[in-house]
Amino acid sequence: MRAQAAVLRDPGKPFTVEDVSLAAPGPGEALVRVAGAGMCHTDVLFRGLAELPMPMVFGHEGSGVVEAVGPGVTRVAPGDHVVMSYDSCGWCGRCVTGAASYCDEFMARNLSGVRADGSAGATGNGGEPVAARWFGQSSFATHAVATERNLVTVDRSLPLELLGPLGCGLQTGAGSVFIALKVRPADAIAVFGAGAVGLAAVMAAKVAGAGEIVAVDLHASRRELALELGATRALDGADPALADAIGEVDHSFDTTGVPEVIRTAIAVLRPGGSCGLVGAGGGEVTLRPAALAGRTVRFILEGDAVPQQFIPMLIGLWRQGRFPFDRLIRTYPLGGINDAERDSASGATVKPVLLPAS
Ligand SMILES: NC(=O)c1ccc[n+]([C@@H]2O[C@H](COP(=O)([O-])OP(=O)(O)OC[C@H]3O[C@@H](n4cnc5c(N)ncnc54)[C@H](O)[C@@H]3O)[C@@H](O)[C@H]2O)c1
Ligand SMILES: [Zn+2]
Ligand SMILES: [Zn+2]
Repeated sequence: MRAQAAVLRDPGKPFTVEDVSLAAPGPGEALVRVAGAGMCHTDVLFRGLAELPMPMVFGHEGSGVVEAVGPGVTRVAPGDHVVMSYDSCGWCGRCVTGAASYCDEFMARNLSGVRADGSAGATGNGGEPVAARWFGQSSFATHAVATERNLVTVDRSLPLELLGPLGCGLQTGAGSVFIALKVRPADAIAVFGAGAVGLAAVMAAKVAGAGEIVAVDLHASRRELALELGATRALDGADPALADAIGEVDHSFDTTGVPEVIRTAIAVLRPGGSCGLVGAGGGEVTLRPAALAGRTVRFILEGDAVPQQFIPMLIGLWRQGRFPFDRLIRTYPLGGINDAERDSASGATVKPVLLPAS
């Protein structure tokens, strides 16, 4: 199957749109014509890592139409509209107890870039292997081969090209609030970083009825947007007296991965409070053990959400106007991927979505 994909050949270089040849969907796999693919900060973070196989196709928030299915696939059929989320095995202890984002095979299936058997999934123009199974999809392309497990079927009346970000960033922010932190009515929460994940957390905290929602970011435009989406206060992350300005909260949620910010996120918790972390890559955090007295801190993957249950719920909230995630999105053609990355880094675009069909 010929496809066009945004290929990364060198961690330090821009993406190049190239023709690739995708392997046909194998057992349990489906070929999806990509309508839209969100760019999550995780793509940006990992695209700079030399340990990943190169060349590689990133993209792990795809949406599209199923074109063909491999042997044994029964839950999706050609013509179905789907969101591609993270992949999981379906039968390890975590998967069968509803904790699929902690699947025993999570790293191999999502972060290796290749299939579980080590095959790349695609070849380039010179016949060289191209890693095309990032998060079981590699959706920065006109077509992606995903597994039946990471597909969520959605209603055909929805704006398909905008739904991809529900598969990772939005699910992570909202799931962290609803499922992992269990924010309750009148609770106070501080959200550090008002990017796509942080703003999804702000919208979810509002839905949960939080009494106080403090959003923190370095960009004034993002603080502004946070206020429009439900934050009761928005503070500048560069304020040296930030912790005092926040006061005490029941929950904190860090999406920056910056060690100093994580320390603040823990410092503002009242005893009994819980802090969720989702950002990595910023280095190690040192704490006095007593800073954790009566407090809980944990790293959350994918908001603890099971995509087939959680994404339909987020779509339901969107239909009610209570989760207006489309306000975070700006679209780009596939060939505009390097502009999308630049605009995400500068803060100009919260959630870039590539439209490979345009
Ligand atoms: N654990 C998971 O399952 C999971 C899933 C998706 C994304 N992530 C991670 O979550 C993080 C956020 O993703 P995103 O797509 O929202 O990224 P983003 O870049 O859009 O948002 C991060 C925000 O943090 C802000 N920020 C940076 N430093 C700050 C500081 N010192 N004080 C205050 N704000 C600061 C930035 O201005 C930006 O708005 C990334 O690290 C990403 O890799 C984790
Ligand atoms: Zn599993
Ligand atoms: Zn992601």
